[in-house]
Amino acid sequence: MNQTLMHQEPKMPEDLQLFINNARFYDKPSTPTTQFTHAELSKALNFHRSMPGYAPTPLISLPNLSRKLGIRNLYVKDESQRFGLKAFKVLGGAYAMARHIAERLGEDISHLPFDTITSDEVRRAVGEVTFATTTDGNHGRGVAWTARQLRQKSVVYMPKGSSPQRLDAIRGEGAEASIVDMNYDEAVRMTAELARKHGWLVVQDTAWEGYEKIPLWIMQGYGTIMLEALQQLHEVPPTHIFIQAGVGSLAGSVQGMVVEAYGAFRSKVIVAEAKAADCLFRSAMAQRGEALAVGGELSTVMAGLACGEANVIGWKILRDYADAFASCPDYVATRGMRMLGNPLPGDTRITSGESGAVTPGLLSILMQSPAMKETRERLRLGEDSRVLVVSTEGDTDPQRYLDIVWDGELASYRKF
Ligand SMILES: Cc1ncc(COP(=O)(O)O)c(C=O)c1O
Repeated sequence: MNQTLMHQEPKMPEDLQLFINNARFYDKPSTPTTQFTHAELSKALNFHRSMPGYAPTPLISLPNLSRKLGIRNLYVKDESQRFGLKAFKVLGGAYAMARHIAERLGEDISHLPFDTITSDEVRRAVGEVTFATTTDGNHGRGVAWTARQLRQKSVVYMPKGSSPQRLDAIRGEGAEASIVDMNYDEAVRMTAELARKHGWLVVQDTAWEGYEKIPLWIMQGYGTIMLEALQQLHEVPPTHIFIQAGVGSLAGSVQGMVVEAYGAFRSKVIVAEAKAADCLFRSAMAQRGEALAVGGELSTVMAGLACGEANVIGWKILRDYADAFASCPDYVATRGMRMLGNPLPGDTRITSGESGAVTPGLLSILMQSPAMKETRERLRLGEDSRVLVVSTEGDTDPQRYLDIVWDGELASYRKF
């Protein structure tokens, strides 16, 4: 064997960074998480259960992959099967739109199941509403789908570089949709401005100062994923949860729920972002307590995670409670897609899209890279770990999925 090779330090996976948030740097009291109690999240779950086509998405255990990675269990919550829309996002949009209608009627959401909220009587009482949003694809599709069920209009804007297939899918749900020449965060501002002018209701899946009610409902709507998963795990919480973030609404919701449910004995939460849009990672690293923005093109294969400005609610929760933040180059996601799409013999095959697969990709590199040994030890990742990941989307852009999984587009990193 080549002597120089024998003595080489293990190589760090290129450009992959992980920040362990183990110090609580802020002398302020931690952000309250009382909006994410079991009782609060159950309201959303009960509403979702009343929707046509509702079924809990599968929680898939991959015993052979777990063994290979050196952990006890890996569970994948497969959101590609959510309401036939291939992604989890409709859970948030539908619940927030329902809460809005309930509020207009002065009713409690618990008394307005889906068939009541979509009835002629409610439609007449509420009158015409136009729902407006900005999206990489998945959220807008959920909003458009729900607006159609409510027999209301929707207007959807997509940032520059968005997939034409995803645009078609949104138009197919009846929305007036277009791709605009600006990045996600700029498009969010434009949508809010247009909505003010035209009297539309903004259903945005991110919060900013002064716009928090609807995004909080959206975050509570995402709670259904964790309530279902815990039921599927017979209420035995995982030791670790890897969760991906764009603006951090989903991750903030998961973190809030875990804090409320398990307090000091909670699962460790590892937040994974796309390197090109790693606003939470950078904000956590800066240790100043405030959210930092990432601007520019936000160019990444993980379209759902291409958001450079954090949800203010999600950021504060993650800042105060998350265990680690990872900034992931595209190869982390494409590796995850190939791993889940080409399972080890005996494991179940899962179709996981670009934004869906970054967390299993990250877990695999953490467990297999010799250079990551210290990091996995600090995170207590090892043979007793029972890890939950959420595959948040399936092949929402089917051609791109095949380009990656068949043709190895963005395959490149194999050096760790
Ligand atoms: C498939 C997918 N996964 C994850 C996310 C991230 O969610 P959030 O923006 O709430 O962090 C998104 C957001 O659109 C998404 O579409």
